Amino acid sequence: MKKKLEINGERLNQRIARLAEIGAIEGGGCARLALSDADKAGRDLVCGWMRELNLEIRIDAIGNVVGTRAGRQSGPAVMTGSHIDTVRTGGRYDGNLGVLGGLEVIATLNEAGLETEYPLSVAFFTNEEGARFAPDMMGSLVFTGVLGLDEALQTVGIDGSTVEENLLRIGYAGDAPVPAPAPRAFVELHVEQGPVLDLAGIEIGVVESVQGISWTEIEIHGTSNHAGTTPMALRHDAGWAAGAIIHFVRGLANEFGGNQVSTVGRIEFFPNLVNVVPKRATLTVDLRNTDENLLRSAELRLEAFLETLRVSEKVKIATRRLARFEPVVFAPEMTACIERHARDHGLSTRRMPSGAGHDAQMLAPLCPTAMIFIPSVDGISHNVLEYSHPRHIEAGANVLLSVLCELAGCAGGRQ
Ligand code: GLV
Ligand code: MN
Ligand code: MN
Repeated sequence: MKKKLEINGERLNQRIARLAEIGAIEGGGCARLALSDADKAGRDLVCGWMRELNLEIRIDAIGNVVGTRAGRQSGPAVMTGSHIDTVRTGGRYDGNLGVLGGLEVIATLNEAGLETEYPLSVAFFTNEEGARFAPDMMGSLVFTGVLGLDEALQTVGIDGSTVEENLLRIGYAGDAPVPAPAPRAFVELHVEQGPVLDLAGIEIGVVESVQGISWTEIEIHGTSNHAGTTPMALRHDAGWAAGAIIHFVRGLANEFGGNQVSTVGRIEFFPNLVNVVPKRATLTVDLRNTDENLLRSAELRLEAFLETLRVSEKVKIATRRLARFEPVVFAPEMTACIERHARDHGLSTRRMPSGAGHDAQMLAPLCPTAMIFIPSVDGISHNVLEYSHPRHIEAGANVLLSVLCELAGCAGGRQ
């Protein structure tokens, strides 16, 4: 019987560890905010590996990097990939696995001397995380033409600088056109970042959908006053109003139940002093649901709550939308393909939605798309403690290899 083609798990895990040295932070995680110096160093390392693998590298005007291996035919490539930017307190697997897993597939095909019918490319998209510049998935949004290049370039980050300034500074403003031509298909390998697979002891998640995401920045304007002399009834306390919003959105998610989640992840007070009633508070609300109607209802409930706060605390409240994506369902033939290959490898599978946002959800309207998940130990992510077992990393990359072989047409895929 012909032996199934397999990736080199040790080499892949070594590459993950090497990339994690860049922007390494205490506890084993990474800080490579989009377009930072650490992001540039990570990009340089990955581009070096792409060159070693003889990929033709193209960089577009938002800094997405695509490395392509030619096929017997020209035309659209079968694409895989993800992102290498991280949140400020990120792990070493989120995004990186998908990019380095893609490179491992290329290395395996190169070593085996296997050609594919169609080109194969590995991409890493700019600013998937959105932690520095909103919206998240910025690179894939521009790649697919949903977000205009100029709007993306002018985006101001949490430190006051723009995407354009930083892209130019790190030397990753390329000339490949955006929007880009549609790939033939897109497959993203990623860590689950939640507890489902780990708890159930399942090796591969077959991702059927990605939930909708709503990000809002809320700015509250009250009146600064003396903390000791201002009677409670006479306050216009921006800080208190911010606290009330935090409490409200948690209650909303509890009340909705199901897949509704809510988070206030960033908050700033001004002047932020112990004995001054805050004049201004800025906070972000992240609402997500797999059901668009429920997500919309949650947004309306938040808007109504802000209105009651305006009246009761006599504060001004302004909102700014940072990101809004409807839930996405992946192509059934792609999920079926992933499931079939995972089972061919003798791996256990579960169909599931993704709770996190991914570049794949932006690619989905453009070409047949799906995602492969592997377990995250204890479901921890966006945390330095994020961990996935090397054996699951190897298993996920082997499924990616087989799926890409089938989609791109090569021996070693589904026979
Ligand atoms: C991206 O990681 C997101 O889901 O926030
Ligand atoms: Mn990710
Ligand atoms: Mn992430």
